[in-house]
Amino acid sequence: MLKNKKIAVIGAGHMGEALIGGMVSGRLINAKDVVATRRDAKAMDELKSKWGVRISSDNAAAAEGADIILLTLKPQVAAAVLGEIAPAVDKDKLVISVMAGITTAAINKRLKKTNPVVRAMPNTPASVNAAATALCAGAHAGEAHLRAAEMIFKSVGKVEIIPENLLDAVTGLSGSGPVYIYMVIEALTDGGVKMGIPRAVAARLAAQTVYGAAKLVLETGKHPAILKDEVTTPGGTAIAAIHELESKGLRTVLMDAVVTATKRSKELSEIYG
Ligand SMILES: NC(=O)c1ccc[n+]([C@@H]2O[C@H](COP(=O)([O-])OP(=O)(O)OC[C@H]3O[C@@H](n4cnc5c(N)ncnc54)[C@H](OP(=O)(O)O)[C@@H]3O)[C@@H](O)[C@H]2O)c1
Repeated sequence: MLKNKKIAVIGAGHMGEALIGGMVSGRLINAKDVVATRRDAKAMDELKSKWGVRISSDNAAAAEGADIILLTLKPQVAAAVLGEIAPAVDKDKLVISVMAGITTAAINKRLKKTNPVVRAMPNTPASVNAAATALCAGAHAGEAHLRAAEMIFKSVGKVEIIPENLLDAVTGLSGSGPVYIYMVIEALTDGGVKMGIPRAVAARLAAQTVYGAAKLVLETGKHPAILKDEVTTPGGTAIAAIHELESKGLRTVLMDAVVTATKRSKELSEIYG
């Protein structure tokens, strides 16, 4: 548990709420030690009644009273809000940001202080405790800061520690990745529907197949190619489908998707960072 630590979640929208949910439900922190900020008063009331956290529309006051400042704002408002909280942020406070494309150096620059900053790239399955998150430490963050951030993100899924120069690639892979898989699920469902399966049944079968295959990779630790070969009967159905997938470039398309999204993440970094 992050004992006696007070956390300010600045810009508690989808990702902020997922993290609040993980921390509070996982008993990592007491709800009363969390203050969440946003501008929409109705949404703030909902956060308060659902999770028992304190709410505020004053970002600077929330940051001032916290030991850990979790920035879950959109990158577009980063500069303005960092400027707003800068005078209230003591230089020893840990700042954790999930904002895509905003580097740890840019955060230190906007705060005008040498705060320890940890950047995180989670993904939307955080809301069902199945996020894939990569963390990296900024120039002034040490092992203890990374461990604290790791505890927070482990409350909503799995965590990897990486150097910051790989964070755009992580954005292209797991940060944006759920979208690619939704398209895969949708396409598999359509295939089932085309072959006569009712849509709702096809959708459940497709989603469970993706979930089960991922679980098998993670739990056995086997290379996916081995798992593929194990279920590919000579002359059977799977090898007939593999031939189709290979001839239409499934793997190249997915690799290209990661490469293109990584490049876009770098471009956005240059705009907002
Ligand atoms: N969603 C993902 O899969 C994902 C994955 C990795 C990283 N991220 C990062 O997570 C961040 C948030 O994404 P999200 O999907 O959670 O966005 P979101 O739902 O729009 O949350 C951002 C929140 O910030 C609040 N906000 C805006 N201006 C504010 C201000 N001046 N002061 C206080 N609060 C303010 C907004 O609420 P009000 O309008 O009520 O103020 C909004 O609810 C982004 O930087 C994104 O790059 C997201």
